[in-house]
Amino acid sequence: MLKASLIADKYYKIGTVDKRIYGSFIEHLGRAVYEGIYQPGSPLSDERGFRKDTLELVREIDVPIIRYPGGNFVSAYNWEDSVGPVENRPSRVELAWQVIESNEFGLNEFTDWAKLAGTETMMAVNLGTRGIDAARNVIEYCNFKGGTYYSDLRKSHGYEDPHDIKLWCLGNEMDGPWQVGHKSAKEYGALAWETGKAMKLVDPTIELVACGSAGLGMPTFGDWEATVLDYCYDTVDYLSLHTYYNNHANDSADFLANTLNMDDFIKSVVATCDHIKGKKHSKKQINLSFDEWNVWYHSNEADKHIEKWTHAPHQLEDVYNLEDALLVGGMLITMLNHCDRVKIACLAQLVNVIAPIMTSDTGAWRQTIFYPYMHASKYGRGTVLHTIKDCPVYDSKNYTDVPYLDSAVIWNEEDNTMTIFAVNKSFEEEMTLSCDLRQFDNLAIDEHIVLTHEDLKAVNTESAPSTVSPVNVSNDVNDNGMFTLLLPKQSWNVIRLSAKTK
Ligand code: AHR
Repeated sequence: MLKASLIADKYYKIGTVDKRIYGSFIEHLGRAVYEGIYQPGSPLSDERGFRKDTLELVREIDVPIIRYPGGNFVSAYNWEDSVGPVENRPSRVELAWQVIESNEFGLNEFTDWAKLAGTETMMAVNLGTRGIDAARNVIEYCNFKGGTYYSDLRKSHGYEDPHDIKLWCLGNEMDGPWQVGHKSAKEYGALAWETGKAMKLVDPTIELVACGSAGLGMPTFGDWEATVLDYCYDTVDYLSLHTYYNNHANDSADFLANTLNMDDFIKSVVATCDHIKGKKHSKKQINLSFDEWNVWYHSNEADKHIEKWTHAPHQLEDVYNLEDALLVGGMLITMLNHCDRVKIACLAQLVNVIAPIMTSDTGAWRQTIFYPYMHASKYGRGTVLHTIKDCPVYDSKNYTDVPYLDSAVIWNEEDNTMTIFAVNKSFEEEMTLSCDLRQFDNLAIDEHIVLTHEDLKAVNTESAPSTVSPVNVSNDVNDNGMFTLLLPKQSWNVIRLSAKTK
């Protein structure tokens, strides 16, 4: 039995969770849009062609914001192709994923769908093949009230009111050589500065995300962030981070230790943002938008055999297992513990493509990673507290002193509730977690939810959708604010507490 402990104090705060940390991402890629959220003619869709079963699952997660339309896709995207009468919209060769894009579903359909899903749009502009001109036009189309060419074009398409999209990405992964129109840091920094300036002239209420480098492992990492911010510090509000982990080596202990890599990544980007802040004698703080994060590798081999230039093929359809859900939970915990700087994050992606939600012609189901994501979004809102934590550690191939316990404590002052998220990374042993919560009056446990399975590689499929499902347990003890929680081996845990009036 492993033994861990933590102490939390309600006055010792990391920060308030920005709900956009539970964002997601829908790209025109594979079956994310077509067959994922939109399938006209299907008995599972409404009269607009929106999949009702997908909508229900998206609402279950309570996704606050969704990045759209890419991703790599956006770097050769003509937004004008995706609006207006559907019969006039062109089919295009889609260069990022080498498929055919029909443009049947576009910008206006997405904003309609987002309303039904109860979510906001985080829109990306094309800084690969296009630039300032297309960006100033698309924001005029989306956000300007009327009386101008593009705002009136929107009205003529049936949208009298502006979409009022508040958050915009200035391109995507622009240092990646795979990106159509990829750029050097200087080229991108200068373009992001001028594009952002023009966009904010059209609508000064928007917020902008500049591209950080495509990952911590990129040769450009570090210099890219510093150079880009040097150019566009005054016009942007956030810098992006992207990361995907894999277990190609089939080394689960090392795989779960990747939370340490994510933690380092965040700290390095914060340091770079603050370095440029100091250099510029600026009072403004740039925060982080972790707008692509997930596990991605199961589909890599199958994707090599996809026929090119088809419409909406089965692409990036990872089937997630329990250990993936444990890492996704650990990544959410890592970001929560940096909620003072990570304000936006997008689980990439939402439906069918490296996604928590899968669909077929006959239904939709929850992958294993659905659960930590849904739990965090539903119960992880409030103030994240610093904790003093003590727990056993292990060494893995690439990491030393990996804590067996990942944890975050969120206190919600409004309704006097607390949520503890915890991952026990041990594959052999249960863990007792002693929590000293005596600073909080009359706390009691409402429920302890556990996601686990004997088999780390267990998955959910359409025919067996509940193999890995959360259950409620009740083995915990409360001794006057000293709680002893029992965390099963290889488990994701959600402990929900509230203050009881005497
Ligand atoms: O999410 C899949 C792809 O991963 C995105 O299109 C791209 O931005 C990243 O490389």
